[in-house]
Amino acid sequence: MNNIFAVAIDGPAGAGKSTIARELSKKLGVIYVDTGAMYRAMALYLIREGISSGDSEGISKKCETADISIRFENGEQQVVLNGENVNGLIRTEEVGLMASFSSPNPDVRKKLVELQRKLASEKSVVMDGRDIGTVVLPDAKVKIYLTASSKVRAKRRFDELSAKGEKCDMDQIEADIVKRDEQDMNRAISPLKQADDAILVDTSDMTIDEVQKKLMDIVSEKTGVNA
Ligand code: DC
Repeated sequence: MNNIFAVAIDGPAGAGKSTIARELSKKLGVIYVDTGAMYRAMALYLIREGISSGDSEGISKKCETADISIRFENGEQQVVLNGENVNGLIRTEEVGLMASFSSPNPDVRKKLVELQRKLASEKSVVMDGRDIGTVVLPDAKVKIYLTASSKVRAKRRFDELSAKGEKCDMDQIEADIVKRDEQDMNRAISPLKQADDAILVDTSDMTIDEVQKKLMDIVSEKTGVNA
């Protein structure tokens, strides 16, 4: 019997999952696995191979030859695609858009879910995504569903873009968020939903510190591990 454990964090885009999950993993001294980055690396591969977003057969076939793995540098996850560190290339709009088409593909999911399960079987993890508590790690010791209202998520995104000097429209951002939620929650395979045994944390009226504390309390209670 080993004493490794998994913390599964799911929720819609913009709920602050990665910021919170990264900090939590540091406090717990375990690895943080960002599964969205894996779907993005796969999307980058498909773009490079000239596969179009609507070509589901092409996506199924091509994903077989993508070798995706992760390694850690200074505690930060690096995604490696066929031997190349692609961390700096996957946060673009183009890759994000392709990922939204290729991530529902069953062959893509099968491959990446296998990798995610293998990681969690070897080490304690904080893993975030859309289907971690429901599909990837149904036996995770801690499951959290992190969300916030579409208004609050739009405001956070607006502030983030404005800080970078980008011009943007709050209503448009919120409309995009609502659309993306609907796509994520209604797709046929691994839709975004709260696992029955997940704890709902609505961060709409919480500061990052408050969310951190709340999650740490939940983890301590469920695992006996204290930061
Ligand atoms: O969280 P993100 O924006 O980096 O995710 C990139 C894409 O991958 C997004 O379209 C959602 C999808 N995704 C998924 O289907 N399942 C996961 N476990 C994580 C991300």
